[in-house]
Amino acid sequence: MLTAEQIQANWGEFTENIHKYITGGRKEKLLGFYRKYEERITIMPAAHKKEYHNSFPGGYVEHVNRVVRCAIKQCQLWEEEGADMTTFTVEELVFSAINHDLGKMGNEEHESYIPQTDKWRKDKLGEDYMFNKQVPFASVPDRGLFMLQSHGIRYSFNEMLAIQTHDGLYDEANNKYLKAFMPEQKPRTSLPFILHQADMMAARIEFEREWLPKFKNSVPTQAENFTLTGKAKKSTKDKALSQLESKGLKDLFDKL
Ligand SMILES: [Fe+2]
Repeated sequence: MLTAEQIQANWGEFTENIHKYITGGRKEKLLGFYRKYEERITIMPAAHKKEYHNSFPGGYVEHVNRVVRCAIKQCQLWEEEGADMTTFTVEELVFSAINHDLGKMGNEEHESYIPQTDKWRKDKLGEDYMFNKQVPFASVPDRGLFMLQSHGIRYSFNEMLAIQTHDGLYDEANNKYLKAFMPEQKPRTSLPFILHQADMMAARIEFEREWLPKFKNSVPTQAENFTLTGKAKKSTKDKALSQLESKGLKDLFDKL
């Protein structure tokens, strides 16, 4: 859970990224868009289930900020290893990261995630949120791109592709872009792969922060000196010793 101060600071980082990286006429439009929906977006979770990631108030903005930071760091790694960095701009990278999950907000009138009303699901499954049935279905990338265009915020071909495919091959709908065998059908930029890596990295870290402490507390027996190799060695030795009848031999092998 985040404190009110953390939620406020995260919103500051979120809008600062727009000020710093987005240029031209769409900068004010994007700032205006996020001002309009500020109350909803600042307290949105990143997912409706605890099993996913950042399913708590303010989780969405915290996740998006982490994706922006990871995307910039991933970009440096790709550049150092020789990727062609002339195929996209830093603005395209950050714009795609800022807006990659925008479709999670729902539509103009209604939020996608609302507080869970089923007490059993809340208590037993830990679902603090549920999908709002007032919002007609659309995939997260489709809805995000629709929200941008319906507010007059232009995006480039690279940004469209990166937002559309940010879930990588976890979403079968991306096969047509990411599983192409013909060179001319493959993306002409590494941007979609960099954004996907950043998103996956952020979601994994958020999962670890939520769940690993719970596992540590509930499975104490695995904690100390447990390795597959160690376990196999010990059990083989024990088995061999149990088959020896001579105490002298047992003592001799036991010392090995
Ligand atoms: Fe994401």
